[in-house]
Amino acid sequence: MSRNSLLQQTMGLGPAWQPRDGWFEQHPALLLRAQAAALPDAEAETSAPAIDVAPQVAIASIPAETPKAETLREPAQPQPAPEAVPAPAARSEMPLLDWPQLERQVADCQRCRLCETRIQTVFGRGNPKARWLLIGEAPGEQEDRQGLPFVGKAGQLLDNMLAATGLDREQDVYIANVLKCRPPGNRNPAPDEIAACHGYLQQQIRHIQPTLILALGRFAAQTLLQTEESIGRLRGRVHRYQDLPMVVSYHPAYLLRNQPDKAKAWQDLLLARRIFQQAAGRG
Ligand code: URA
Repeated sequence: MSRNSLLQQTMGLGPAWQPRDGWFEQHPALLLRAQAAALPDAEAETSAPAIDVAPQVAIASIPAETPKAETLREPAQPQPAPEAVPAPAARSEMPLLDWPQLERQVADCQRCRLCETRIQTVFGRGNPKARWLLIGEAPGEQEDRQGLPFVGKAGQLLDNMLAATGLDREQDVYIANVLKCRPPGNRNPAPDEIAACHGYLQQQIRHIQPTLILALGRFAAQTLLQTEESIGRLRGRVHRYQDLPMVVSYHPAYLLRNQPDKAKAWQDLLLARRIFQQAAGRG
């Protein structure tokens, strides 16, 4: 049994996270990597997937209204219990920074009270040129210690999910959080904390310009879409964040506690993969 299968079995994930036959070989992220490897650097840059949206994000232009969701819908799902709602994110007045400046600014950030209790900030992890951008909620205890997102139990589950989808967590995705600092005791992010941190996430998105955003959990989904709808209502369809296709799914930590919803999360990943392929011109 492979290490991944063993991990998945140990974590009670069952066959839902097993890669399907031929999936890895056909996965667009792998195709892109193979293409890039076969081309000189400059050409590889320009041959990145041709996405027919214009992800030129004006940092201060988050739409005030709830972005319209596309009609692509999976079969109706029973809705989980309604969830509390974060305040809409504030518009960012931050000047556009380059990536290293942004990292430094986050590391030194004192925009909210979380700077008093954090061990360190957690900027993100993975490939800043990745085509998939995953957005979680906030660092937990382990993340606060290590300075990297999703390194605890939820992170192990996320890694398994990514592996089953044929994605390499370091090469094919970039992972960021709504908050860059740990809320004490892993409490929910407060609205003013989300607002204080939102400019950083906006700039990360602008720099990465992913082909697809996968929002994990309600804080990521509700913050980016500026909606109060529950995950149960938001998942199963494609949204747009400033012209970028965005799919919403459950947070891995929620899935650890609610195993039956793993099947829905799997459907979300299938949807995300399909949308990614379409957006990358292979649909
Ligand atoms: N949960 C998150 O949302 N992000 C992390 O980095 C870790 C746990």
